[in-house]
Amino acid sequence: MSEAITTHGLGKTYGNQAVVQNLDLRVPRGCVYGFLGPNGSGKSTTMKMLLSLVRPTSGDVHIMGRQMQRSTRRDLLGEMGSLIEAPPAYVHLTGRENMRLAQRLLDLGDGQVNRAVEVVRLQDHLDKRVRDYSLGMKQRLGIAMALAREPQILILDEPTNGLDPAGIEEMRRLLKQLADRGTTVMVSSHLLGEIDRTATVLGILSEGRMLFQGTREQLFARSVPDVLIDTSDPDQATALTARSGAVRDGDSVRIPGLDHAATAHLVAYLVDRRVAIHGVRREDQSLEDVFMDLTGGRGL
Ligand SMILES: Nc1ncnc2c1ncn2[C@@H]1O[C@H](COP(=O)(O)OP(=O)(O)O)[C@@H](O)[C@H]1O
Ligand SMILES: [Mg+2]
Repeated sequence: MSEAITTHGLGKTYGNQAVVQNLDLRVPRGCVYGFLGPNGSGKSTTMKMLLSLVRPTSGDVHIMGRQMQRSTRRDLLGEMGSLIEAPPAYVHLTGRENMRLAQRLLDLGDGQVNRAVEVVRLQDHLDKRVRDYSLGMKQRLGIAMALAREPQILILDEPTNGLDPAGIEEMRRLLKQLADRGTTVMVSSHLLGEIDRTATVLGILSEGRMLFQGTREQLFARSVPDVLIDTSDPDQATALTARSGAVRDGDSVRIPGLDHAATAHLVAYLVDRRVAIHGVRREDQSLEDVFMDLTGGRGL
């Protein structure tokens, strides 16, 4: 089965600045795809190209296996809902009035609108003016407007921007729930941790290029976590293993990036030199840690 979104060699140049370069996106159907990268790395430009809001300088876009071109654009855009930049609502109107406008514009049924509002859990807030909504509620209203026509693909550009921790948690839950119902959700963030566990597939962008694309498991498999050795003589153990990049870490010794064989070798070496070892541990890695490995410590 074809992917929800694929691109081949997608690129965008403004003047002589290549802001997106040679991008091969593969977004499987029905997943939450986390599109991560620092500010200015080209996330919004890429999403706008997917939505035909920005014309690519090179490459092509396929949606549900069909190439985006003049003859297919209308059809394919009909499969996509999006929230790009600020939520699209009129703040002097109520949530209900905004939804009604979207309904008329897109020629939607009452059922579609009601379902979308329920998915984002705004049904009890529809008679409030949008200016009195929290940022999280505004984002959810924007998502309801994008959802109402039941798109197969939802493209959300930094929907967690500016939300408080509770709002972020709510957004994560919503994205998961949408993917569980079969919607493909592509969501961007400049903060690695923000959609960390929500996304099952990740694309990591840096300066317009894809640094990594794949599942979380594939990403984590790429990195070798630090090994921590607990010993009664951390100073001596650190000195003995300094060549491996060891540093003292509290009462332990931290040795970066050791695989299983190297760990076994190092422990044998220390035991041989009569260092009393109490424990050997690997730390759980966060997405940030893995990313540091991936970029050779530069981070995002
Ligand atoms: N319309 C434009 N004209 C010129 N440069 C642009 C335009 N839009 C974006 N850029 C530049 O492209 C780069 C990527 O921007 P953007 O796609 O918004 O990144 P992100 O969404 O990851 O923060 C930035 O350097 C930005 O200044
Ligand atoms: Mg952006």
